[in-house]
Amino acid sequence: YFLGIDLGTSSVKIILMSDSGSVVSSVSKEYPVYYPEPGWAEQNPEDWWNATKNGINELISKSGVKSGDIKGIGLSGQMHGLVLLDRDNNVITPAILWCDQRTQEECDYIIEKIGKEGLLKYTGNKALTGFTAPKILWVRKHLKDVYSRIAHILLPKDYIRFKLTGDYATEVSDASGTLLFDVSNRRWSKDMIDAFDIPENALPKCYESTDVTGYVTKEAADLTGLEEGTIVVGGGGDQASGAVGTGTVKSGIVSVALGTSGVVFASQDKYAADEELRLHSFCHANGKWHVMGVMLSAASCLKWWVDNVNNYSNEAMTFDGLLGEAEKAQPGSDGLVFLPYLMGERTPYSDPYAKGSFVGLSITHNRGHMTRSILEGVAFGLRDSLELIKDLNIPVNEVRVSGGGAKSKLWRQILADIFNVRIDMINATEGPSFGAAIMASVGYGLYKDVDEACSKLIKVTDSVYPIQENVEKYNKLYPVYVSLYSKLKGTFE
Ligand code: XUL
Repeated sequence: YFLGIDLGTSSVKIILMSDSGSVVSSVSKEYPVYYPEPGWAEQNPEDWWNATKNGINELISKSGVKSGDIKGIGLSGQMHGLVLLDRDNNVITPAILWCDQRTQEECDYIIEKIGKEGLLKYTGNKALTGFTAPKILWVRKHLKDVYSRIAHILLPKDYIRFKLTGDYATEVSDASGTLLFDVSNRRWSKDMIDAFDIPENALPKCYESTDVTGYVTKEAADLTGLEEGTIVVGGGGDQASGAVGTGTVKSGIVSVALGTSGVVFASQDKYAADEELRLHSFCHANGKWHVMGVMLSAASCLKWWVDNVNNYSNEAMTFDGLLGEAEKAQPGSDGLVFLPYLMGERTPYSDPYAKGSFVGLSITHNRGHMTRSILEGVAFGLRDSLELIKDLNIPVNEVRVSGGGAKSKLWRQILADIFNVRIDMINATEGPSFGAAIMASVGYGLYKDVDEACSKLIKVTDSVYPIQENVEKYNKLYPVYVSLYSKLKGTFE
């Protein structure tokens, strides 16, 4: 058996995968996010560890599997977050998360100092408020005392690694999201570290995703129920791990994660960054590379809508009830367009101030049209990233969809029609935690590499094909959707 741990933003999800790739048991444990100021988002790393430790104990006892039969552990997690430890390994200040927006000034400073050319050359990525380097600069400026005590800088899942093995380590896919990483050469960027005077000794050692980075210590074994000495492999950021979990490991396959955020992810056999830096360009967990576009609100737009419909009506309305109404509306929602920028937008605009809207409402529209336009607006937003991927000449033969929103067949059909490509569902639905368990099985030696494991373990179970009539309708509507952001930008505050 192999354990896959995905340290998410709302909860940690832990699965136990058998050697043949079936998920025999899983647990999930929640923890809070704190929003101490508008636009800030923090978590307590001790909460992550408590949830993970309790989750592993619970999983082992409920599965009935002997801890000695768990041969390896893989870690996945929310990316970009900043965890700071002092010399005695105490967490000095709450972790600053990927969705925290406090660092615009630091991003401006980074761009001013080394320019877009420097960023492209040294890291292949844009300075974004969510990334790790601007957070370090923010701490240096605003929390001088905290800064002076920094002995170790870790990413969220790597704090769990430290608690399990005692090692300060990370791996290439997550390190790619720090803005301190030379993605093309898969190592820390000396240029970025020197340019911004980052304490190099505090950075963790960086491995490939399937490398063994350490072994469960006696202390961690006592706390979790795991066997002392069990291997822990590098693992990956949640997006790379999720891509492994859907078999998105070769050129031609693109994955769409329709979760809280929405991600369009394309595997690349060779490194090729987006010269305009609109897409993220990161190391993949299979020894290769990938590009991705990230929408900040995807399935969360539908959740927002369902919650509000329920808060203000007497009848309880389920997701299925609303989706049933949406199915009765025509493709294109009779001219109603929804902009999904409920929390600003990352790709393609990098605009923390972008806002959502319904545009084109008329007296003939009903709730079904509104729900449908939300599904369509999110799919158009994802198409923005898909178009950027196509611009890089990356082939898009097949799209694999995962995440909560993928459960809706209507949404999958809308995606197929708006993307004009086949949309596949696969047998594994556990996403990043499954990908992390696969990496552990490769690190243990069960498979030659990630690609071999994916081809043996992951199968397409359902496909939705584009309907040409709808494709044409949406092709006419897409430029309207695209034009609305710039038309409305002046109204966003
Ligand atoms: C990726 C990103 C999110 C986080 C949280 O760039 O910001 O996917 O990893 O899940």
